[in-house]
Amino acid sequence: MPLVTSKEMFRKAYEGGYAIGAFNVNNMEIVQGITEAAKELNAPLILQVSAGARKYAKHVYLMKLIEAAIADTGLPICVHLDHGEDFEICKSCIDGGFTSVMIDGSKFPFEENIRLTKQVVDYAHAKGVVVEGELGKLAGIEDNINVSEKDAAFTDPDQVQEFVEKTGVDSLAIAIGTSHGAYKFKGEPKLRFDILEEVQNRLPGFPIVLHGASSVMPEYVEICNKYGGKMPGAKGVPEDMLRKAASMAVCKINIDTDLRLAMTATIRKNFYEHPEEFDPRKYLGPARSAIKEVVAHKIKNVLGCDNKA
Ligand code: G3H
Ligand code: 13P
Ligand code: ZN
Repeated sequence: MPLVTSKEMFRKAYEGGYAIGAFNVNNMEIVQGITEAAKELNAPLILQVSAGARKYAKHVYLMKLIEAAIADTGLPICVHLDHGEDFEICKSCIDGGFTSVMIDGSKFPFEENIRLTKQVVDYAHAKGVVVEGELGKLAGIEDNINVSEKDAAFTDPDQVQEFVEKTGVDSLAIAIGTSHGAYKFKGEPKLRFDILEEVQNRLPGFPIVLHGASSVMPEYVEICNKYGGKMPGAKGVPEDMLRKAASMAVCKINIDTDLRLAMTATIRKNFYEHPEEFDPRKYLGPARSAIKEVVAHKIKNVLGCDNKA
């Protein structure tokens, strides 16, 4: 089974009323934890790499880890650039074997977002690679893009048709109230399903992407805080809202924070319980298992993509 694009995955997900998990990868234990869960549940998978991950682990190492995961599991896996900020990084990932890239022009005015996105689409499509664009601004921090709450803006449904037609993108990330990181809502969590519904009406059958979709799982926040962490007020997107989005036009749900949290909570607990231990395998192994558990939970109970590979 080679690397695949997300085209076929999204077509089936849209029709089936479920979503594909797009999980961020930064090292071997994360790749293994995610792919072991997907293998056991026979789930299609998107592994995504940010500019920060490429800088941390290097493109070639991440690529080889993902190729190893495909050889080991036989799963169809799409490898995707998360939040590409310019044409050059998208080109570098396309040339380096990625099957999907995101060009995040959401910080630019509408016309400039269209111009940049189309430039990436033209290059990517010529090489058989698919492209995700973004309209609307999520609050939070993504690599070099820091959008304050005041600057965040919901997607305007009046713009989506023109954007998709003029750019030729294969999927579209929209802002409906989610945000990146562990602190998503000050008060009650609320997503603008009315905007999602309107976008769906304007773009029938077109795959929508939800960023900032970690639930900031309370059980791991609790473990973190019990063993020396300080995450007061951490709050994520409730799982029932994600399930509802997956049953609508949302075909790709991005999850990073929940993996970081599970890994960190497990390592903190391990250090506390075994202060004498200094073999990295003794704490990275359990951390990898925690990631596998989180991903299995998301696949079965949130995304609904088990047995869809
Ligand atoms: O949306 C951003 C992802 O969580 C990636 O985070 O840029 O720190 O690797 P990063
Ligand atoms: P979270 O921070 O909610 O996990 O979102 C990740 C994401 O959107 C990656 O692009
Ligand atoms: Zn994101």
